[in-house]
Parts: sequence; C-alpha cells; structure tokens
Amino acid sequence: MVKPELRATGLGYLLLALPVAAVILFFFEPLGKGSAGATQWRVLPGVEQVEGIFGLVTGFVLFYAFQRRFWPRSEGETRALRSAVYLVLLEALILRLTHDVGVYFQGEWGFPREEGWLRSPWFFAPALAVVLLGWRYGVLLSLSGVWMFVLLARPGLLSLVAAVLGSMAAVLWLRRSTTRSRVLRAGLWSGALVSSCILLGELLSGSGDPTRCVRLVGIALGVGFGSGILLLAFLPFVEWALGELSDVSLTEYGTDHRLLDELRERAPGTWNHTLNVADLARQAAGAIGARALLCHTAALFHDIGKLHRPEVFAENIDGASPHDEMEPGESARLIIEHVTQGLELARKHRLPRPFRSIIVEHHGCSLVRFFYAKAVKLAAEGEHTTIAEEDFRYPGPPPSSKESGIISLADAVEAATRSMGDSSPGEIREVVRHLIAERVAEGEYASCPLTLAELGQIEASFQAWLAARCHKRPAYPQAEPVSSAQGAGVG
Ligand SMILES: [Fe+2]
Ligand SMILES: [Fe+2]
Repeated sequence: MVKPELRATGLGYLLLALPVAAVILFFFEPLGKGSAGATQWRVLPGVEQVEGIFGLVTGFVLFYAFQRRFWPRSEGETRALRSAVYLVLLEALILRLTHDVGVYFQGEWGFPREEGWLRSPWFFAPALAVVLLGWRYGVLLSLSGVWMFVLLARPGLLSLVAAVLGSMAAVLWLRRSTTRSRVLRAGLWSGALVSSCILLGELLSGSGDPTRCVRLVGIALGVGFGSGILLLAFLPFVEWALGELSDVSLTEYGTDHRLLDELRERAPGTWNHTLNVADLARQAAGAIGARALLCHTAALFHDIGKLHRPEVFAENIDGASPHDEMEPGESARLIIEHVTQGLELARKHRLPRPFRSIIVEHHGCSLVRFFYAKAVKLAAEGEHTTIAEEDFRYPGPPPSSKESGIISLADAVEAATRSMGDSSPGEIREVVRHLIAERVAEGEYASCPLTLAELGQIEASFQAWLAARCHKRPAYPQAEPVSSAQGAGVG
C-alpha cells in the first residue's frame, strides 16, 4: 500500500511503478533468443539491464520533477498522476510485446528485427492520456514512450524521429477536442507520419522495392488507424478502471440523459438556470485552464435533486409561493434537501464520481439566507423563540476541486443576478464582486485549489458573461397598420 503522505504527492505511485516497469522492459530475455528454443524466457542480469534501469530511473525522476514544477497540486492532479503512471506501465507492456513479437516473427512480416518497432502502436498510450487526462499528460506519455523505446531498442535516428512524430501526432490532433471522429483521424495521421519516415528510410537506403514500401506503409497506417479503433473500444473499461472521465463520455452525458430530459420537462425554471450556470462555468473554466467540458456537463446535473419537489424552488414558482404557508425552518429544510436528493438520484443513475462531488459541494456549507432572515424576523416579533443557525445551513462539504469551485460560484452568481430584475450593469457588477468576496471570506474555498489570481479571472469572466446578458437590443420599430396593397408584398 502507498503511504498517505507519498500518495498525496504522487511519489509513492512512481516508486511502485519503477520496479514494475524495469521488470517489464529489462528482466526477461526476449522471445526467440533462448538457447533451447524460440519461446524460452530467462532472467537476464547484465550490463545492458543495468544501463536500462539507470535510464529508467532518470526518466522517472525527470517525469516527477516536471510534473511537480509545472502542474498545480491538488487531489485531482494527484489522481491524474496515478492514472498517468498506470498508462506508462501499459505503454511499457505494449512496447515490450511489440518488440518481442518483432523479434519472434523477424523477416516473416516484411520487417527485419531492427524495424519491429514500426508495428508498435505509438499513438495508443499518448492518445489515451490526452483523452482521459488532458494534453499535458499526453506530452508526458509521448516522451516516456520514446525514452523507453530508446532504452529498449537503441534505435537509429530515423526510427527515433518516427516514434516522436507518431506519438506527438496524438497530442497535437487531440489537444483541442477529443471527439470519436477526431480520435480516428488522429490515428490515421500518426500512421501517415510513421509511413513518411519509412518511405524516407527506404529512399535513403536505396532499396526502393515498391511492393515492400506499399506493405510497410499499409502496416503503419493500419496500426495507426487500428489503435484509434481499439482506443475507442476500450475507453469505457479504462475509464472505469482508472476512475477517470473522458471528453467523449462527457459529451455523451451532456447531450443525452434521462435526468436532463426530466429536468427540462418538469422544472423549466431550474432547467433555464442550469443552462446559464453551465455556460457561465464553462467560460470561466476556459479562462483559468480548468476542464471546461467537465464544468459544463457536471453543471447540467448540479440541481437534479430539485426534481424531487420542483414547485418549492423560486425559479419554478409562478404566482403564490408555497413557502407563504410554511415555517421558515420547514422551507429551508425543503430547499437544503435538494442536495441529498440529488446525490441519491446520481447514485441511482450511476452518474460518475466527479458529478456526485459537484452535486454535494455546489452549496458548500452556506446559509439559506432568505429563510434564515425570515426566521430571525419572526423571532424578533415573538413568534419563535429559538433559531438554530445550523438548521439553515447546507451540510457541505465545500468545493474540493477547481471545477467544483467554479460551478459553486457560477450557481450563486446566476441565482443572485437573476433575482435582481432590471438592474443596471454597474449594480450587477457590484453584486458579483461582493458575492465572491463574501464566499471567500467565509472560508468556502479553503480546501479548493483555486488561487486568488484565478478567482479574479473567474470574476472577470462572469462579469463579461453577465454584461452580454444585460445588453439590450435596440427596440424594433412599432408595427404600423399597413394597407392591403402594402401588406401584399410581405413574404
Ligand atoms: Fe442547488
Ligand atoms: Fe443551482
């Protein structure tokens, strides 16, 4: 087991992964080299292995130093590092298998042994890292794959260039968007880049056998495209195993889910609020480099608990309020309940863990001010004697990730500014500034990895979004009665 303090920095996972990667890459004799037959396996301690292990340790130290220097520290990033370490081990396994298969079948598939690496799915692990963890981890997986390839196969310059291009193609093509079609196209591009290197190699070596060239290019393209298909096929299993959520899945959750259809039909006011929160959160996440699509999709689900009693929430009330007849404590209980009801629904519909966290954290431990103030007023008038403030507070916990913090702020800002009616842009700006400052002062973001600079950027993003919403179009000219002769020409 990894000790908690090592787990917190991600170092423990790297220390566990090192010996596993060393065993995968260096501690067994490749197939086809055994003295008693082609399929014999033997442990091979030797100079090459010591060199390889030294190189591997160097690679892991650089990996860790780079991650510590350029990555923000948070629970989410530590989990992502753990997932990246598992992907590096998968990459080592793929490299070793393709290397050994290349040795075993040398000459049979048109590849001499030193070209066996061409069959390696360079695209697979870096693309998986980009789809699951973001482009920065894609770059790390690309570099680690090339480094392990250098240690394992001691390739020539052209092979090295092909490995770099084949793996970086995944990062470059998938950096902005990771839809299914883009993953397949990226696979093809990866294969095309490796093919170009093969053709260049053939030209430089002067062999120039067209049949061989076509076969090699065909295999490289097939490996690239096939890697894309395999990635999409295995993605749900990898997501489940690592507990991560890819953009492909997020897009599916956001476009087609029964709970969203229900919210749209049964609570149109909440649905409208939800769409605004999702848009606000997505824009703010983009401004600070957080996961914008996760923010958008999770925000769509943040208030699903209101499906339990949609009629008690202000945005769905049209006419007399049911709260007029209720005790303030009872009203607050019904409002607060939407968090626990939301979690229950999320569990029932097996929504992913990040969505569940955002549902329970989006109000943090804040106070239901309206009904608390109403209770205090009634107490002052002598109708109630005791008021327990904790009865008017959400149970929490407060936001624990950047995405959760952004949604929590977007939710509060949307609700507050919507209730202001026809206020001036200046008044709205002031309310947003005050609301964010108040939430921060209350310690709601103490365990959230958002920095003060990022909170400033989020506020600026909200202000820009709300300014666009406040913008008034010039009024259309009043329609004047037209004579039948004038009206006849209107289509
Ligand atoms: Fe809510
Ligand atoms: Fe909300």
